[in-house]
Amino acid sequence: MTEKRGKILAFANPKGGVGKSTLSCLVTAMLKWTNSYESVQLIDADKQGSSVRLLQRISDNIPCSHYPISYEYDKLNVIMLEQLMSNCRMQRGNVLVIDTPARPDQEGIELLTKSHAIIIPCSNTLAELPITLDFVKKIDDLKARIRKIHPHIVVIPNKIHLNRKHIDDFISYFDNHDVVIGPPIHDSSFIRKVYTKQYDYNKITQETIFSDLHNVVSFLRKYVIDEELDEIYSSNKSHKDHNISTLR
Ligand SMILES: Nc1ncnc2c1ncn2[C@@H]1O[C@H](COP(=O)(O)OP(=O)(O)O)[C@@H](O)[C@H]1O
Ligand SMILES: [Mg+2]
Repeated sequence: MTEKRGKILAFANPKGGVGKSTLSCLVTAMLKWTNSYESVQLIDADKQGSSVRLLQRISDNIPCSHYPISYEYDKLNVIMLEQLMSNCRMQRGNVLVIDTPARPDQEGIELLTKSHAIIIPCSNTLAELPITLDFVKKIDDLKARIRKIHPHIVVIPNKIHLNRKHIDDFISYFDNHDVVIGPPIHDSSFIRKVYTKQYDYNKITQETIFSDLHNVVSFLRKYVIDEELDEIYSSNKSHKDHNISTLR
């Protein structure tokens, strides 16, 4: 809804390889393709800059800047990113997606808490779940300390195998934490190849994985960008409803 303030969605997880860069680029492009927002842009805050290149490959007319925040000497980037975030927030119809580095330092984490939602891709494997849970707890503690409902914590189950029924286990893993579980994205050879091939709107829409991505984008639009989560949290109706994905 364009009359609402600009929204910042930060893709984060201290674990590398969970899908932060891939999903932040695909979600940015798909939000842009809805033609519903004044401005959609991506900031790559990882020093590797892989999402700058990836987004270019998906769509060459979406603004993407590189502000790596992982090192001490990137202090200036942290300040500039903070400024960009507050500018985005002031303007209605703006959406700013941030791809963040693995293992962000405390300053990086504090910067993330200034976003409207932290989107956390995570597979249902023991390599990723425990680190993700620790991260969720850390953000939750920070939120409790500043007594805020933001950032919302949205976990996106990623790289899920089609033929296995893992989602329930996944949801119960995060039980008792203030997170929302979004729709899952299955393991997809298309996504694996997105780093090496040229893809555009027409190609992506023909892929079977498109419906997963579409569900995630619709979910983020409805609950995060159009503020349904804000309404749920502020009315406190289902504060502990962890699986809002089933409401879509
Ligand atoms: N749903 C998926 N299916 C298959 N491969 C995926 C999926 N999501 C991510 N990947 C692959 O996982 C790897 C790591 O993804 P990436 O986005 O670079 O992670 P991060 O930014 O968290 O380090 C990439 O090779 C990417 O293609
Ligand atoms: Mg990355």
